[in-house]
Amino acid sequence: MYKFIIEGGKSLKGKVKVKGSKNSALPILAATLLCEDEFVIDNVPILRDILTMQKVLEVLGASVSIESNRVKVDTRGAVGYEAPYELVRQMRASYYVLGPLLARHGRALVSLPGGCAIGTRPINLHILGLKRLKADISITHGYIDAYGNKLRGSCIFLEGPNGPSVGATVNVMTAATLAKGLTIIEGAAMEPEVTDVANFLNKCGAKIKGQGTRRIEIRGVKKLHGCEYEIIPDRIEAGTLALGAAISRGEVFLEGARQDHLQSFLDKLREVGVDIFVEKDGIAVKMDKDILSTDIETAPFPGFPTDMQAQFTALLCLANGVSIVREKIFEERFMHVMELARMGADIRRESDYVVIKGVPCLYGTTVMASDLRASAALVLAGLSASGTTEVRRIYHIDRGYENIEERLRKLGAQIWRQEE
Ligand code: EPZ
Repeated sequence: MYKFIIEGGKSLKGKVKVKGSKNSALPILAATLLCEDEFVIDNVPILRDILTMQKVLEVLGASVSIESNRVKVDTRGAVGYEAPYELVRQMRASYYVLGPLLARHGRALVSLPGGCAIGTRPINLHILGLKRLKADISITHGYIDAYGNKLRGSCIFLEGPNGPSVGATVNVMTAATLAKGLTIIEGAAMEPEVTDVANFLNKCGAKIKGQGTRRIEIRGVKKLHGCEYEIIPDRIEAGTLALGAAISRGEVFLEGARQDHLQSFLDKLREVGVDIFVEKDGIAVKMDKDILSTDIETAPFPGFPTDMQAQFTALLCLANGVSIVREKIFEERFMHVMELARMGADIRRESDYVVIKGVPCLYGTTVMASDLRASAALVLAGLSASGTTEVRRIYHIDRGYENIEERLRKLGAQIWRQEE
């Protein structure tokens, strides 16, 4: 087990290249199971969830090799159809193999993921969508047991009570690439990662239209083939680093960051006083003023991303005034709140929102990471805090950020990894 030691008070300064998107790379790697061929996927962030997906693919018989940020997958020997509990419990996104396995083998046995720190996270929409493609699905002994030798296109409304589902859209869209006839997904998720998966699938020979809108059309094809593909930059990593610059009163250029993926987040940053300069090859972020308060409500893309909620909350702890942050996607995504309070934040949770009264400064202490983005929020708080912050259980942050401490150190932060 490792922890981070952070000496706060250093401004982040310099240039950093944004890594590839974790939440694109995971379903794209899973989608290589749709055919027997070779793939080269570039700009893959090498972090713990990707290594778990590597193990899932290997258990299913694929061979995977990783060289810096390039991943080669050969699915010619991938005859397995079972994703075991041991791997799925380490990473929910393992369920991304469900659609591809079903479409290619007509059979998938995928463990149910179990509990999650950020909310209940049902998978009813994944199952509903695949059933509409004429898959036969039951839940037995903790597994999703699916058969579907003759998947057929259908018209499906995939929205849940909190809006569209990224995972269900991807699973159903992926399975539909090999289903007979036309599938229309209404209420589809519009996240850039969904578009990235669709673009990858089209490069493999799929016929998908409408990605990036609420209606995706998939015309089934008989067979797909391997390809070379480059993953989009990670908007959440970019946003987290931008907040690092803001909270430490620094100036950072985020090479590769895309305005079209970050609009609602950048608008909120501007609202609290951060200067943003959008350039051809990235985005510059500069903060040299007092932080202003604001209200935030998370929403599906293009709304404010739930994956940035915890980190933005850390910034608002230092704002001039009162802010309200409402979480509309994952009901329990507030694990960072009590830890920020331990660092001196004036913050309290009320059902699905938190009220934050800004304080002039946070103080270093020992805090506990509890999920991926909550951990990132604590690291950001530590960058600005006076004194030393110890962030424990950082395996959570390693799930979603590649070498975060090294990247922050290059920007001037004083942060080290130590064995606990
Ligand atoms: C993806 O999770 C991301 N994970 C999450 O990133 C992200 O927070 C989330 O999308 C929302 O943007 C990956 O891409 C691997 P959803 P996913 O299905 O697909 C409800 C991170 O920090 N719902 O879009 O699991 C659900 O409860 C992570 O990188 C149903 O009701 O999220 C939620 O309220 C964590 N039934 C809403 O939909 C279902 O069958 C959106 O969830 C599925 C979801």
